[in-house]
Amino acid sequence: MARRFCNFCGKTEDEVGHLLAGHRGVAICDECARLAVEIAGEQDLSRSAGDLLLVGLGSIITNDPRLDGPIVDGAIALRGGRVIWIGPERELPSRYRELATVDCGGRAALPGFVDAHTHLVFAGDRAGEFERRMGGESYADIMAGGGGIGATVRATRAAEAPDLLEASLARADRMLSLGTTTVEIKSGYGLETVTERMMLEVAAEIGNRLPIDVVPTFLGAHAVPEEYRLDRDAYLWLIEEEMLPAVAPLAVYCDVFCDAGVFSVDEARRVLAAGRRHGLRPRLHANQLGDTGGLELAAEIGAVSADHLEHVTASQASFLADAGVVAVLLPGASLSMRTAQAPARVLLDGGVPIALATDCNPGTSNIESMQFIVALGVLEMGLTVEESIWAATRGGALALEEPDKGWLRVGSVADLVVLDTSHPADLAYRPDRSFTWKVIKDGRVVVG
Ligand code: NIG
Ligand code: FE
Repeated sequence: MARRFCNFCGKTEDEVGHLLAGHRGVAICDECARLAVEIAGEQDLSRSAGDLLLVGLGSIITNDPRLDGPIVDGAIALRGGRVIWIGPERELPSRYRELATVDCGGRAALPGFVDAHTHLVFAGDRAGEFERRMGGESYADIMAGGGGIGATVRATRAAEAPDLLEASLARADRMLSLGTTTVEIKSGYGLETVTERMMLEVAAEIGNRLPIDVVPTFLGAHAVPEEYRLDRDAYLWLIEEEMLPAVAPLAVYCDVFCDAGVFSVDEARRVLAAGRRHGLRPRLHANQLGDTGGLELAAEIGAVSADHLEHVTASQASFLADAGVVAVLLPGASLSMRTAQAPARVLLDGGVPIALATDCNPGTSNIESMQFIVALGVLEMGLTVEESIWAATRGGALALEEPDKGWLRVGSVADLVVLDTSHPADLAYRPDRSFTWKVIKDGRVVVG
């Protein structure tokens, strides 16, 4: 691959650490971006919609690896949906004071949460099944008896599009109010072309109606639907020949539930290869229920992410790291399944970047709050507060191939959450409440 360099100072990406890509292959390093803003000092910084100055931030979690830790007593200037200045407030150039200003009164800020794994478009609920599971029945037995994913498939197929949209929009809106500014949404409760398409259309409509970025994923291989139970091959053929051509324009990624009793490695390989032929990049559910080869497949095909990973060893972690696969961990699913959490520390020690996500779905993780997921990362998975917040922000951005999200530095997307506390650790220390004070998406205050 050609070496990327700053078109203004000529330094390479290795030298400057980060390049912001612009139109027509032009790139600029942070220092030159900062200088350009300085030179344009006479520019009109008078108030205009979408430009904002945040001052009085007791701490800013930036996730910028060039800094030692959070910025203390900081300020952030936002313009055109990007961060144009960030640092200690005492160093803020005076002209930024012209911008519309919010005094955050010592509160803490962090990048908007990037929820990289959800199934939030669905109809009905499975509260009854949950009660049965809590009474001792297993997820697999309930699924074999026609419940589980199959129950939500029946409800979703029966739903009218406006009703599906209303229920799903409400979920996404609650997520936004809890600080999620980018959300991945999977299909997978249609398992027939028309309903799979409807789910992805609903996902797109959520992004049109709410100030939240939606990343759509096709998950036609979530389960074999009842009508194909005796002919799995015919269902795989349907995915390849009918569903993918119909849904590919509506999705970015293709996912498969590759696990014990669901899709085998060979089946998953086949679906993900077909997805790739239609321009969808691969990610997969792997090693949730057992160690059935999903992680080896993820590394073999260079999947963008492997998700769940409750069953993973140190040697698997090392080949995932070598293959550049991001591990998306879903602590809400293990909590609701009363099963062991994914060994996050084994993955981190093996050099695998980890993301934390809600897995929002009606069966195994009916959770919308990334704030709660940060708490679970700390309390259930043994992460530090800093690691857990990183995984819920920058980790999610890496899992969705969004290089300018999940961190706050000059040039990054101006998505952030201002917490109603000066201690980010409160997210885990006081796990039962929302700490949203304001949510800012693309430089605009959208909540609070
Ligand atoms: O991510 N693992 C597969 N899919 C979901 C569960 C879906 C359901 O039970 O409805 C998950 O946990
Ligand atoms: Fe899932």
